[in-house]
Amino acid sequence: MSLNGRNYTDEYQRSLKDPEGFWLDAARTVDWSVQPTRAYSSADAPISRWFPDGELNTAWNALDRHVAAGRGDQVALIHDSAMLGEVHSYTYTELTDQVARFAGVLRGLGVGKGDRVVIYLPMIPEAAIAMLATARLGAVHSVVFGGFAANELAVRIKDAAPKVVVTTSGGLEPNRHVEYLPTVHEALDTAGSPGLPVVVKHRDGFATDPHTLDWNYVDWDTALADAQPAGPVPVKSTDPLYVLYTSGTTGTPKGVVRDNGGHAVALLWTMANLYDIHAGDVWWTASDVGWVVGHSYIVYGPLLAGATTVMYEGKPVGTPDAGAFWRVIEQHGVKALFTAPTALRAIRKMDPEASLLARHDVGSLQTLFTAGERLDTDTFHWASRVLGVPVVDHWWQTETGWGIVGNPRGLDPLPIKAGSPTLPMPGYDLRIVDGLGEPVAAGEEGNIVLGLPLPPGTLTTLWGDDQRFVDSYLSAFAGCYATGDSGYVDADGYVFVMGRTDDVINVAGHRLSTGAIEQVVGKHPAVAECAVIGVADALKGQKAVGYVVLKSGVSIAADVLQNELVALVRREIGPVADFKNATIVDALPKTRSGKILRKTMRQIADGDAYTVPSTIEDPSVIAALLPVLAPVEVGDDHRPGR
Ligand code: COA
Ligand code: AMP
Repeated sequence: MSLNGRNYTDEYQRSLKDPEGFWLDAARTVDWSVQPTRAYSSADAPISRWFPDGELNTAWNALDRHVAAGRGDQVALIHDSAMLGEVHSYTYTELTDQVARFAGVLRGLGVGKGDRVVIYLPMIPEAAIAMLATARLGAVHSVVFGGFAANELAVRIKDAAPKVVVTTSGGLEPNRHVEYLPTVHEALDTAGSPGLPVVVKHRDGFATDPHTLDWNYVDWDTALADAQPAGPVPVKSTDPLYVLYTSGTTGTPKGVVRDNGGHAVALLWTMANLYDIHAGDVWWTASDVGWVVGHSYIVYGPLLAGATTVMYEGKPVGTPDAGAFWRVIEQHGVKALFTAPTALRAIRKMDPEASLLARHDVGSLQTLFTAGERLDTDTFHWASRVLGVPVVDHWWQTETGWGIVGNPRGLDPLPIKAGSPTLPMPGYDLRIVDGLGEPVAAGEEGNIVLGLPLPPGTLTTLWGDDQRFVDSYLSAFAGCYATGDSGYVDADGYVFVMGRTDDVINVAGHRLSTGAIEQVVGKHPAVAECAVIGVADALKGQKAVGYVVLKSGVSIAADVLQNELVALVRREIGPVADFKNATIVDALPKTRSGKILRKTMRQIADGDAYTVPSTIEDPSVIAALLPVLAPVEVGDDHRPGR
């Protein structure tokens, strides 16, 4: 039983038996301009409508209300740039002022309720300010991760059809300066929107773009200095707050739509109950605003809760060393850190005994949360040992926006089992089913599905494509949302997530589509056909590896082709794809109907047991591939999906 008298079992049971009561109670933590009288409406099912008659403004809830409550002088956001060696803090009053004024800039550029704003920014405070300013106007932001190339940005601009793009002159990666403006320029051309207004935050050390004069450019600093603050615009709870594109199984990303009301309620529930973070606490999520983890837990969650959020521009290693995380925890008095297991593996690789930890006082740290990929048991034990605090895995996806399975540290913390993110969170009716949708026995692996409706804060649809939403998630298993992950539940109800059942892979906590990489590799003039699979990688969890068959009569040296394919993927998708390996093979294994046996290839490459399907066209192709697909050397525990 927790100090506040509530416990997981009662909360979870109530959320399923009395969802109206449970979520209306949770909704009391939000400031509504029109209080909702109902939690859920099925009127538009399968599209969920949470708090259908409620109205609110999310930015007001994240900022103004804390000022109104007397916490204006509390620090809201600490920007710690390990790249520049600088720290800048914003109090709630200062951040509210900046956001209101940037909302004025956007309004001056024609942005109103429901309009879209595409934000292509690195980890600088302006990213959070632009997101919140968009929300303040009741408009819809779509943040694009800085590691994506022009073409990926163009696809998102085309789909979201924004009124304004917000960007910067540059981002800082350890090994290079990233020039943003040429990428934005190319993306706008490709998207067919060259005249779109672009607000640019200039950073020292980056050239002024030569197109500045021809383009509809607005300088962030000048515009902000002149801007009139804009007040928060109330929107319906069900109105969209943001669209975040994520990788699906095809090359076309899916625009996950998040509403305002359900999102605020769900995130506030998690801050208190899952993370045990409250007003005044210092919270740090080491991710990027371009990912869902950054949306929910760098920006919205901690600010809705009135906490202090740390925004870190740097890496776990190399900026300057593997002690960077411990330095940040000490310097800002971080109570809880949320990061991806790959970051911990990177630190461990550089500093296996965590000797750099001894140089810092990390006594403020109470909990380490991880997500984004499975927390392998080696890393779990290592982090638990060196930090001496609970290391808590939780499992979720861009689509859900918050933890599906977790360990509620603000209720009665549950015993931790290595390898499991623990138990389903309120509102998630989790089941393990076979391919026909029939429940499987405890301990048996199957598809992880969630009974409908999903709880508040989860995706309501895909941007502009309700049918794709239904086809992608709701069609495979009647009455359920298909997570795309497989796993099992043990005799104690603990969930073990084993890996994706589709062509989505996870590289250094970054979600990628092998289908999208295949599309790019297939464009090379020498390539007849190809398969890209995710294979186990000791540091990054998985890496994308390509196998290509040359067109007949074409001859090209293997290293030349590999270099060209690596450059092509980097250009078309971006450095984040981290595609480094392509091997020429004589043939790809296929079924008689022509489907490439990617799963069998992956199993061989991962050194797993595999059975060659009886429908294979030519079994000798597999035999010929065996030496090429020789398993990489990683400990069993590092294998995602095992
Ligand atoms: N803008 C431009 N380029 C970016 C970028 C960004 N925002 N983010 C990454 N890249 C580039 C990197 O510079 C690198 O380029 P390179 O090939 O020229 O070296 C490439 O994309 C791959 O980057 P990354 O996957 O980060 O690998 P890395 O080897 O540089 O670093 C880790 C390895 C483990 C330290 C790093 O991946 C990491 O910190 N991972 C944690 C990720 C995370 O927090 N994910 C959370 C999602 S929940
Ligand atoms: P993303 O949408 O980028 O958050 O990626 C979601 C996918 O990452 C999930 O479907 C899982 O495959 C994987 N994932 C995220 N968190 C975990 C976790 N804690 N354990 C296992 N897999 C995870």
